[in-house]
Amino acid sequence: MKEIKAFIQPFMLSKVVRILQQIPDFPGMSISEVKGFGRGKAKGEPRRIIEDLVEYTPKVRIEIIAKEHMVDEIVALIQKNAHTGNKGDGKIFVSNVERAVRIRTGERDGDAIWSPLKDE
Ligand SMILES: Nc1ncnc2c1ncn2[C@@H]1O[C@H](COP(=O)(O)OP(=O)(O)OP(=O)(O)O)[C@@H](O)[C@H]1O
Ligand SMILES: [Mg+2]
Repeated sequence: MKEIKAFIQPFMLSKVVRILQQIPDFPGMSISEVKGFGRGKAKGEPRRIIEDLVEYTPKVRIEIIAKEHMVDEIVALIQKNAHTGNKGDGKIFVSNVERAVRIRTGERDGDAIWSPLKDE
């Protein structure tokens, strides 16, 4: 299992989600509003938040835990659909996930993410 964590422009979120939802067996996702900055600080960003003399830019964080065989497709779709070509388009990170538990059923790991037989 892998975690795909992406920081994208908030105004690109709906487009990205609509596309991801079309992937068969898409496992799910979490969305949060965050603020931060990349290498370029907040320079050239369309929106900036200044707090205590520090500049941040608003972003949306997407977290998806997925089976390995889906990772390349998910990353490619996020990149394509969050892309404007301007500064601040965001970044995508992929990391390993060691364990998962589905609380209702006790299913573990890959089955906790998506199990066709028990999924009524
Ligand atoms: N190394 C990092 N660690 C954690 N979060 C990061 C990191 N880099 C970027 N982010 C998050 O991703 C957001 C988007 O980064 P951003 O696209 O502005 O990066 P950048 O390097 O400045 O690239 P660009 O030149 O395209 O603006 C940041 O506002 C921050 O929330
Ligand atoms: Mg930037």
